[in-house]
Amino acid sequence: MAAPRVAVVGAGLIGLSTALRIAEVNPNCCSITLLSEQFSPNTTSDVAAGMLIPHTYPDTPIHVQKQWFKETFTYLFAICNSAEASEAGIHLVSGWQIFKNPSEAEVPFWSDVVLGFRPMSAAEMQKFPQHSHGQAFTTLKCDCPRYLLWLEKRLKANGVQIHTRKVTDLWELHNKYDIVVNCTGIGARQLVGDEQLFPVRGQVLKVHAPWVKNFIRDGDGLTYIYPGIDSVTLGGTREKENWCLSPDPDTTKDIFDRCCSLEPSLQRAQDIRVKVGLRPSRSAVRLQKEVLSQGGAKLLVVHNYGHGAGGFSVHRGTAEEAAHLVGECIAALQGSSSRAKL
Ligand SMILES: Cc1cc2nc3c(=O)[nH]c(=O)nc-3n(C[C@H](O)[C@H](O)[C@H](O)COP(=O)(O)OP(=O)(O)OC[C@H]3O[C@@H](n4cnc5c(N)ncnc54)[C@H](O)[C@@H]3O)c2cc1C
Ligand SMILES: *[C@@H]1O[C@H](CO)[C@@H](O)[C@H](O)[C@H]1NC(C)=O
Ligand SMILES: *[C@@H]1O[C@H](CO)[C@@H](O)[C@H](O)[C@H]1NC(C)=O
Repeated sequence: MAAPRVAVVGAGLIGLSTALRIAEVNPNCCSITLLSEQFSPNTTSDVAAGMLIPHTYPDTPIHVQKQWFKETFTYLFAICNSAEASEAGIHLVSGWQIFKNPSEAEVPFWSDVVLGFRPMSAAEMQKFPQHSHGQAFTTLKCDCPRYLLWLEKRLKANGVQIHTRKVTDLWELHNKYDIVVNCTGIGARQLVGDEQLFPVRGQVLKVHAPWVKNFIRDGDGLTYIYPGIDSVTLGGTREKENWCLSPDPDTTKDIFDRCCSLEPSLQRAQDIRVKVGLRPSRSAVRLQKEVLSQGGAKLLVVHNYGHGAGGFSVHRGTAEEAAHLVGECIAALQGSSSRAKL
C-alpha cells in the first residue's frame, strides 16, 4: 500500500511536538502534514511562561504524570546542554516556591526530577517575611515563541508539510488522510464537542526587568515571577469557564501589585505587555485512539489534548505516547491492506 498519510491538527506546543515525535519514531513510513488555524505567535502556547513545574491532573495516575515529566525534563535538559539551547529558547532557572502555612509545603511528586530540590534556609526565608516555609530548586524553562519556532524548523527539516487551515469537522480530512491526530487544545471543545474540556483563563504580564534572575512562585500557584531570556513573566489568574481573550486592566494592576509584594524591585520594571490565554483543562489529558465510522468509511483518530496548566511540563512525554499510538494505527492499516491483497 502507499505510505499512510497522517494529519496532525494544531500548531501549538502539543501539535508541533507530537508531529516531530511521529516523524522521528516512524521515519519514511508515513507522510505527515500539520494543519492549523493559528501558528506562533498566535497560540495559547505563546502566552505561557513555559516553566517546567507540573500541575496535577486528578484523573491521570501520578506515576504516569511523573514519567511524562521525567521524559520532558530529560529531553529539554539535553537541548539546554547543547549549542542549540539559545535558538531553542531552553534555559535553566533557579528559585523559590514559598508558603504561608506549613501544611501546604508538602514535598511534591516531582521533587526528584527537578535539580537540587531542598527546603529553603532561614537566610533565604528572610526575603519573604509574609511566608513561613519554602522550597528551593532548579528547573528548566521554555522561552516562547522561540521554542515553538525551533520545533517548526525541526518539522520542516524532517519533511513535514505545514498548512494554514481551520478544520470544522474531522470528516473533511477523510479523503486525504488515513490518520488524524487531534492536538487542538481548547479548540477540541468545538471540534469534537468534548464537554469535559473547559477553559481556565490566564492573564499574565511580560515585563523588562533583566535584574530579576530567580523565579518566585507563591505556593497557591496564583502569583508568580518567572524570568525568561527576553522578558520576565508576571502572573497570574486562574478563571474557570471564562472565555474572554481581552486583557482586564484591573487584573493587570492586581497582578503587578501581587508580584511587587514578593519582589519589590519590580516597581522599576518597564515595557509592560499584557497577554491572555485559555488553558485547555480537563481532569485528565485525553490521549487515546478512536475509530470513527460514517456510512462504511473509517477514520483513525489519535487524541492528544487537554494539557491544562501544565502542557510545557509534560509535552515530550505525551508526544511520545501519541507517536506510539500512531505507530499502532499504521501497523493496523498495513495489516488490513495486506489481508485485503490475499
Ligand atoms: C497564562 C498561562 C501560563 C501558562 N504557564 C505554563 C507554564 O509555566 N508551564 C506549563 O507547563 N504550562 C503552562 N501553561 C499551559 C500551556 O500553555 C498549555 O498547556 C499548552 O500551551 C497547551 O498547548 P496546546 O498545543 O494543546 O494548545 P494551543 O497552544 O492552544 O494550540 C492549539 C492549536 O490548535 C489549533 N486549532 C484549534 N482548533 C482548531 C481547528 N478547529 N482547526 C485547526 N486548528 C485548530 C490552534 O490554532 C492552535 O494552533 C500556561 C498557560 C497559560 C494560559
Ligand atoms: C498572527 O495574528 C496576526 C493578527 O491577526 C496576523 O496579522 C499574523 O499574520 C498572525 N501570524 C501568524 C504567524 O499566523
Ligand atoms: C478533537 O477532539 C474533539 C473532542 O473529541 C473533537 O470535538 C474534535 O472534532 C477533534 N478534532 C480533530 C481535528 O480531531
